[in-house]
Amino acid sequence: MRLLYVRSSVTGWDAPGDNGVVNSCFHSLPSGEDPSKLVPELKYIPRWSRRGVIRADHSEALLRAVNRERAIQSQADRDAMKLNPQDLGKITELTLEHYNRRAEDFWAGTRAHDVSQNIEALLHYIEGDPPFAILDFGCGPGRDLKVFAERGHLAIGLEGAERLAVMARAHSGCEVWQQDFLGLNLPDEHFDGVFANAALFHVPSVALPRVLLDLHASLKPRGVLFTSNPHGHNQEGWNGGRYGAYHDLDTWRGYMSAAGFVELNHYYRPSGLPREQQPWLASVWRKLAS
Ligand SMILES: C[S@@+](CC[C@H](N)C(=O)[O-])C[C@H]1O[C@@H](n2cnc3c(N)ncnc32)[C@H](O)[C@@H]1O
Repeated sequence: MRLLYVRSSVTGWDAPGDNGVVNSCFHSLPSGEDPSKLVPELKYIPRWSRRGVIRADHSEALLRAVNRERAIQSQADRDAMKLNPQDLGKITELTLEHYNRRAEDFWAGTRAHDVSQNIEALLHYIEGDPPFAILDFGCGPGRDLKVFAERGHLAIGLEGAERLAVMARAHSGCEVWQQDFLGLNLPDEHFDGVFANAALFHVPSVALPRVLLDLHASLKPRGVLFTSNPHGHNQEGWNGGRYGAYHDLDTWRGYMSAAGFVELNHYYRPSGLPREQQPWLASVWRKLAS
């Protein structure tokens, strides 16, 4: 009997790929759904970031459910292309409400995540002498903000969910700006680095060029932007009560270069696993001197 890995994490459930191995099809199940409702044989593993297993003889049922959801998703993709400003406001509101309602659980589920590889990737490419002015974009409860501050940098958090912003201030002792990604108000040419860990995928693709231009403008010339997002096949929509867009590397490169960034590095995470078990695409970018 083959075993299929199913991950229950901040980004949702994974589904099996053609070879029966689970890959990162985060969009595959409808928003907020417990997959066991679609496929009763599946065991729901509610703890975030835990790896669980399902038996291969359930995979047919799961694949059927996934394909059904994919058909719905394609329609959702087409609809997403037509989003108007009210829809974008609703997307932000519901996504932030989701995080606010689960603030404590989110913190419990993510506070021990080791993203030191990502922090190093950002700091490695910043030129000049520390301390650096760093914006932790979508800082959540402040896990990484605190690390930047402890390392002596001038770290500021930006977070839309009020409860998470309060937690981030308490945890890190840093200033945290409560702002919506879709309505940013940032100082020009202020930051040496922007750390956007697991944040930009919440931006609908119609709004992404504007957000990236805002981040670009907030960086000093030759400043560095780090991003890590769950990758996919350029689908977007609701997932677990939050809106997400899951780009592949080529598409992500297109957005970043259009905003005036040049690529410094990219890698998939967690490291040391086969690609189909690496849901995260991390990439590091430099603002071209203007
Ligand atoms: C997956 S969490 C990542 C948190 C943190 N960076 C980490 O690595 O643990 C995404 C964060 O983005 C925030 N967020 C999502 N959409 C937002 C929006 N439109 N404006 C501001 N913050 C937003 C959420 O509240 C949440 O804290």
